[in-house]
Amino acid sequence: MGFELKDILTQYSGQNFSLYSEHINPQLVRVLRTIGFDKFYTHGEGAYLYDADGNEYLDFLSGFGVFALGRSHPTIKKALHEALEADLPNLIQLDAALLPGVAAKTILEHCHDGLERVFFTNSGAESVEAAIKFARAATSRQRVIYADHAFHGLTYGALSANGGQDFKTGFGPFLPGFTQVQFNDINSVAAELKKQDVAAVLLEPIQGKGVNMASLEYFSELSDICKTTGTLLIIDEVQTGLGRTGKLWAHEHYGIRPDIVTISKALSGGFMPVGAMICSKEISNSVYSSMDRAVVHSSTFKNNQLAMVAILATLHVIQEENLVENARLTGLAFEKALAPLVDKYELLQEVRGLGLMIGFEFGKPKSFALKTKFQLLEKARTGLFSQLIVGPLFTRHKILTQVAGDAMNVVKILPPLVIGQKEVDKFSEALDDVLHIAHKGNKLIVDFSSTLLKGALKSKK
Ligand SMILES: Cc1ncc(COP(=O)(O)O)c(C=O)c1O
Repeated sequence: MGFELKDILTQYSGQNFSLYSEHINPQLVRVLRTIGFDKFYTHGEGAYLYDADGNEYLDFLSGFGVFALGRSHPTIKKALHEALEADLPNLIQLDAALLPGVAAKTILEHCHDGLERVFFTNSGAESVEAAIKFARAATSRQRVIYADHAFHGLTYGALSANGGQDFKTGFGPFLPGFTQVQFNDINSVAAELKKQDVAAVLLEPIQGKGVNMASLEYFSELSDICKTTGTLLIIDEVQTGLGRTGKLWAHEHYGIRPDIVTISKALSGGFMPVGAMICSKEISNSVYSSMDRAVVHSSTFKNNQLAMVAILATLHVIQEENLVENARLTGLAFEKALAPLVDKYELLQEVRGLGLMIGFEFGKPKSFALKTKFQLLEKARTGLFSQLIVGPLFTRHKILTQVAGDAMNVVKILPPLVIGQKEVDKFSEALDDVLHIAHKGNKLIVDFSSTLLKGALKSKK
């Protein structure tokens, strides 16, 4: 009998959680069951996901930013089908393949002049690893500065630059030479850079954990100090890149020209694992400095042809569908729709972000009844209140969102860049409803406790 994917999908239909629990990660399954996120999705299209019961979900998580073009985009599918049909000469390795060259050229056409070379990777973390290695090689310095709350991936170099403890606990020791400074505090970073022994400052233009933003002055002063101290500025655009914030690159908002840029997620078109580290000729030449060192930094799948096709098709769609401008305009529509909620609900303290990367910060209310409720939840677990928003957005309104990080009361949305006013209205009305209930009585807590209880019972099965 031949291989039939549809037979496998039919045979195992609905067994996703038991298989995952048995063979991959039972703790994740427990978490999903506990918070009521244990659905069996069957397909996805555009900004929507569908489950086996025919329910439609608005996907404002978009695979942590992977689905900038929405799911199952026809242009990417067609391009990948064509590539498969063409029997391309993939991964010969001792070869300089055509499509990686075209993909690199196309990416660089969208970058500032100082960026002239691309190193392809399979993920965001790998792009960051390349950036760290290239920065050390180019400067002959070892130190790397990163910020509190930073997230750059979970491999050792990237994890050494993680600005929290949650992901680090149990995995030390980390790479030597890494120093944490306070995000958006120019004095703390300047004090390190003036020692003139720092290879690079590694920062997200908007931090994914918490949707924290820095001022224009911070980034422009930092860029100047980097230049005068011979330090490279690495901007990690793995989450923010390719239009998410209403400009192709989030660093454009700050008017800076980083020495190294890392990208991934959206570049995939939602299909192929891919990333890239982009830098100047000088930086690249410092690594590939002689014939002996021609493959001194590399990985087997870096130039995978299907990934290259996905990149080219993705960049085409971003331009053709005007997605950067759409992200900017839809971001403004969100701003308009959400601003009244901050005035209306004392628990919602701030809505921040740029384009379609938006964070909602919740905080201790003033009124006595709400304060007691909020404190009760915070006592149980810091950041639990934000789960009380994400939960009902999903269970009552079928909208997928996320808590922006551990132990913080920030909810984040990363909608696909293809959404319009319909989705803005749907989300704003849903958030209004959930906040209304949160302010009214204890229904959210009761509902949430019952979801937890049901989840806990299911987990025991
Ligand atoms: C800014 C940033 N850098 C790096 C990474 C790591 O990417 P990956 O999960 O593909 O390794 C992420 C992932 O969320 C990210 O947001």
